[in-house]
Amino acid sequence: MGPARSGTENREGCPHPGPSNGGQDVRASEARPNPRINIGLRMGRSMSVPLPGRKVLLTVHVATAVSVLGTDLVLLVLGISSVGGADPQTIYPAAHLVATWLLAPLAIAALGTGVLLGLLTQWGLLRYWWVTIKLALTAILTGVILIVLVPRLGVAADAATALDPSPFTDAERLPLLVAPAAGVTLLVLIVALAIYKPGWRLRSRPKRRHERG
Ligand code: HEM
Repeated sequence: MGPARSGTENREGCPHPGPSNGGQDVRASEARPNPRINIGLRMGRSMSVPLPGRKVLLTVHVATAVSVLGTDLVLLVLGISSVGGADPQTIYPAAHLVATWLLAPLAIAALGTGVLLGLLTQWGLLRYWWVTIKLALTAILTGVILIVLVPRLGVAADAATALDPSPFTDAERLPLLVAPAAGVTLLVLIVALAIYKPGWRLRSRPKRRHERG
């Protein structure tokens, strides 16, 4: 069951009030899309961001974020092949390249554009659970990619391409399957949060003058 929507929220639970709909009929503002979005920086200031700018940012965010998922799937395929017995000399240098030059920069870009979207729209970063959970999961994911995955794949690639490589055991091959599989699961959850946008609030909405009585 969805949460009760405030008067300024639209049908998808988006809390963006229209620029000119303060106090006006919400249905009228829904019928007539507003060219500008009113945003709050949560420090008492509030400014207006042109809708095209927000759409460009959202486009970059979705493109990079969904690319993270796609790149993770590539690593998962390499991991499955490795566990299936594929030559480590083929698998690990490729996996290291993909993680270093695609996955890591894309994860940083998804995190950065997501944070900007949170700050520059009324979603905020710590206002709705779904945004805060996305922030935490993406930050953890990005940290693990940068601090654990890329360096370990580098070591594995070096070991696989050494002059006299020792054979990779099953235990050594498994992480390249398990890590991307966990990543894909988290990323699907993050996408679902973005799409469903459950309305649970982390902070209660400040009461408006007429509600205070
Ligand atoms: C890899 C991680 C991420 C993925 C896969 C992802 C995915 C998405 C997708 C698919 C949307 C579009 C949803 C829609 O328009 O219906 C979206 C929107 C959004 N994302 Fe992310 N996201 C990620 C990280 C983040 C982070 C770290 C934040 C910030 C804390 C964030 C904040 C937002 C916000 C606020 C929107 C809504 C923008 C709007 O409607 O104006 N995202 N995300």
